[in-house]
Amino acid sequence: MKAVTYTRYGDPDVLRVADVPTPAPGDQEVLIRVRAAETTKSDCEFRSFRYSVNWFWLPLRIAVGVIRPRRPILGMYFAGEVVSVGGRVTRFAPGDQVFGCTGLRLGAYGEYMVLPESAAIGPKPRNMTFAEAAAVPLGGLNALHFMRRAGVKPGEQVLINGAGGSIGAHAVQIARSMGARVTAVDHGIKEELVRRLGADDFVDYTTGDVTTTNRKFDVIFDMVAGSPYRRLIGMLQPGGRYLHGNPRLSVLLRSVPTTRFTDKTVVVAFAPETREDLATLARMAEAGEIRSIVDRVYPMSEVADAHRRVETEQRLGAVVITVASTPG
Ligand SMILES: NC(=O)c1ccc[n+]([C@@H]2O[C@H](COP(=O)([O-])OP(=O)(O)OC[C@H]3O[C@@H](n4cnc5c(N)ncnc54)[C@H](OP(=O)(O)O)[C@@H]3O)[C@@H](O)[C@H]2O)c1
Repeated sequence: MKAVTYTRYGDPDVLRVADVPTPAPGDQEVLIRVRAAETTKSDCEFRSFRYSVNWFWLPLRIAVGVIRPRRPILGMYFAGEVVSVGGRVTRFAPGDQVFGCTGLRLGAYGEYMVLPESAAIGPKPRNMTFAEAAAVPLGGLNALHFMRRAGVKPGEQVLINGAGGSIGAHAVQIARSMGARVTAVDHGIKEELVRRLGADDFVDYTTGDVTTTNRKFDVIFDMVAGSPYRRLIGMLQPGGRYLHGNPRLSVLLRSVPTTRFTDKTVVVAFAPETREDLATLARMAEAGEIRSIVDRVYPMSEVADAHRRVETEQRLGAVVITVASTPG
């Protein structure tokens, strides 16, 4: 089968389309023909091993490969079709259209991949193409986790910092579906996109500073490494919650006294990616509560360009590669 592989960390040109053996499913595994995979900021970070947050560099490098990548096929978020299943698989059958995430197994940039039946895989939203569905799991699972942790209530004021990114764009929609009023902060080129997704107000971080607006929020969800912690905490209402999905070490350390000694709560977390949450997202997509905005779809052979588009942050929505020969 064809797959996008990389054998050393580096710039997008380290990615190559190569012929590799097609995997075979074990007893409790499913073989999936991948149709589309989102090209994410995380994929670019795995490829280059450059992070804006450094405290997990060493444990992650040990997990992923110290000298060179241990798993040569990137890709965590996908949509595709079940081709065959192991003898003890009960949840899936050949022909099922699915979407989901691989976790640290990676491999979604290959035409075929094997995942355990228990992985975060579920039926693809029926109203989405493969490309649209592949763009849901990263943003949707992370945003759903953090918005639930925030306990967003109808009428609350929610600020989303980094609202035009994969996770932020889903957070805007999920916060709105929970009845919140959403203020989005991102680059001005993304204003039209996040307003279309439901943001009520927008602040362009390149020309303005939301922390000088005298506004107060019940919830602040932050995906931006290095944002001004003290000033953002100062924008919270009493009982307010600050959630950070991309925290530097200093935020981790300061989160404990803030939560313990003030009336504000700080949550820093890696979102677990579960099949239950995936099923919730599929229901929300089919009910029209969340939409998938695809910026561009690239064929597998142009994966380096797809990575460049993500890294240069010109995209408006998700960048997706089509992996199998029939685009979705
Ligand atoms: N906690 C978790 O469980 C978890 C899970 C997955 C990923 N992550 C990490 O979270 C990070 C973000 O993920 P993502 O996929 O959503 O990234 P993304 O798609 O690149 O989104 C980040 C957004 O923030 C914007 N931004 C940059 N600087 C900003 C600033 N100062 N103020 C406001 N907005 C700003 C970016 O716009 P411009 O750059 O165009 O200005 C971009 O639209 C990644 O580094 C990833 O590794 C965390």
